[in-house]
Formats: sequence, C-alpha cells, structure tokens
Amino acid sequence: MKNITVIGSGTMGNGIAHVFALNNFKVRLNDISNAALDKAMTVIEKNLDRQVQKGAITEEQKAACIGNITASDNLETAVKDADLVIEAATENSAIKLELFGKLDTLCKPDAILASNTSSISITKIASATKRPGQVIGMHFMNPVPVMKLIEVIRGYATSDETTKTIFEIAKTLSKVPVEVNDYPGFVANRILMPMINEAIISLHEGVAGVEEIDTVMKLGMAHPMGPLQLADFIGLDVCLFIMNVLYDGFGNSKYAPCPLLRNMVTAGYLGVKSGEGFYKYSKESKDLVVSPMFLK
Ligand code: CAA
Repeated sequence: MKNITVIGSGTMGNGIAHVFALNNFKVRLNDISNAALDKAMTVIEKNLDRQVQKGAITEEQKAACIGNITASDNLETAVKDADLVIEAATENSAIKLELFGKLDTLCKPDAILASNTSSISITKIASATKRPGQVIGMHFMNPVPVMKLIEVIRGYATSDETTKTIFEIAKTLSKVPVEVNDYPGFVANRILMPMINEAIISLHEGVAGVEEIDTVMKLGMAHPMGPLQLADFIGLDVCLFIMNVLYDGFGNSKYAPCPLLRNMVTAGYLGVKSGEGFYKYSKESKDLVVSPMFLK
C-alpha cells in the first residue's frame, strides 16, 4: 500500500494525513472546500513544528511529510489511484452513505475503504457499496499525531484479509490497532461518552462544580483532562450525537443525553470550536477559565 487518500480535512482528517505522510506514504487530502484544505495544510505545518521543537522529528522529516501531501478538491482525481481511502468527513449518515456509494464506483476494485466514524455503523456504511468485505472502521483519536490507538471496527461482512492489512498499516504508523465489532459506540465511545454524560449530569444536579468534577477525575483517576474539559475538546455537538446513537441503538434509558448537554448544543455552546462550553477559551491565554454560566 502506497497511495492513501484522506477525505475531509478537518481536525481528524488533517491529523490522519499528517501521520501517514510522516511515515512516507503518498497522501492525497481531499475536501469539497479549498479554504478548508488551505487551513488544514497550515494546521499540519504547525503541528509538525511542535514535533520539530520537541526534537521528535527533524526539519528534513517535516519537509518530506509536507512534500508527501497533495491537497485536492476533486474527489475523482483524489481517489482513482488510492490503495486505501480513509473517510473523515462530517459525522452524518446520509453524507457517508452517499460518499461510500461514489467511492465504490470511483476507486480501484481492490482498494480498501475505511471510515474514521466515531459511532456510525460500519455495516451500514458498507451496505452502500458492492465491496462490504473491503469496508472497515479506522477510528483514530484526537490529537491524531499523539494518540496511539486505532480502534479497528469490523462490519458484519468485513473480511479477515482487510482486517489484517489494516492492522499491518496501523503498526507501520507506530499506532496500536485494537479489533472491535460493530455495535453502537464501538468500545471507545460506548465507555467514554456515558462517563462524560454522567459528569454533565453531576454538574446539572449540583453535585459539584466544573473545576471540582474535572479535578476529581484528573487527580483521582490520572486522566490527562477532566471529562468536562474533554467534552469541550471533542465538541459538545459530537458528544450529543454519539449519546443519541447509543440511546437509539440500545433503546436503554441509561444512555439518555443529559438535558444540560442538549441545551448547551441548542444554544451554540459547543466547547473549544465555538469559544465556550464548560470553559471559556480565548486566543490570548491558554489558562483554563470556567464559563461564567457555571460560576457560583
Ligand atoms: N500534533 C502534534 N503534537 C501534539 C499535538 C498535535 N495536534 N497536540 C499535542 N501535541 C504534543 C505536544 O507537542 C506534547 O509533546 P511532548 O509530549 O513531546 O512534550 C504532547 O503532545 C502533550 O501536549 P501539551 O504539552 O501541549 O499538552 P498536554 O500535556 O495537556 O497534552 C493532550 C495534550 C495530548 C491533548 C492531553 O491533554 C490528552 O491526552 N488529552 C486527552 C485526549 C483524549 O482523550 N483524546 C481522545 C478524545 S476522544 C476521540 O478522539 C474519539 C471520539 O470519537 C470522540
């Protein structure tokens, strides 16, 4: 496998492109928006600079990585030579189904089609293609250049051969692949999201404040971020979407999203990306400041 195409140049897509290109794969980064592609290339360069400053990579490796990425807003050109396509587009079933239907007709017959979806069924995505054995989930974690895990999700018909190939590629990237089956939330989000939701319920019920809840989990459980800060980092809209997938998928009230989470998303308080969630973010300072909404 040499040619990789990443579809979607947002946080996950540009992180995936970064990691493949740094490991000497030829990467085509595709997006419908040229402005988004320009922004993605700037982000990749900034993240490579962090790695250079830390001594993790050299200036030469940084230059080679950038040289390995070709940005393209044309889907057909971007995927025609791909051995592996990784879709990291918007988390929306209709968009993914339409895209995989197109990929099936545009890609080489032996190409593997992977999705970085965090919760949409791989079996459902594969059903939009005539190659369900070659469709698989590759769920990277944010920030992609830092996090070691790739949750490899087997759809109902994903073949052993496809799974084996993806495991080999993951290891080439110095990532750790873990095989899971296709049930709502897979493993990562089936466990992570109810924890985040419970933290929001604890806040909503007045058990403790934002900083107190996060401090308990950081210092008591050695989590690098507390669950409320992590929710802001992931995006509250994404957290709500995944809770709804769990709630609908299992039909169990234990997965009901907290009403506070619903309200914050409806009001546009989405966390880091909107500038405010449980914390308020500013360009000037990296200090964690609790949102005025949650100050006593
Ligand atoms: N690219 C490259 N390097 C990066 C980076 C990026 N985007 N972001 C951080 N880094 C590097 C830093 O340079 C630093 O490197 P060294 O260890 O060599 O010093 C290291 O990562 C730590 O970064 P910082 O010192 O800036 O900050 P930190 O110590 O607070 O770590 C963090 C930041 C890695 C994000 C850490 O807070 C963390 O692990 N948080 C939890 C992340 C997490 O849980 N991710 C999963 C989210 S869920 C998901 O993604 C799936 C889903 O479906 C919702």
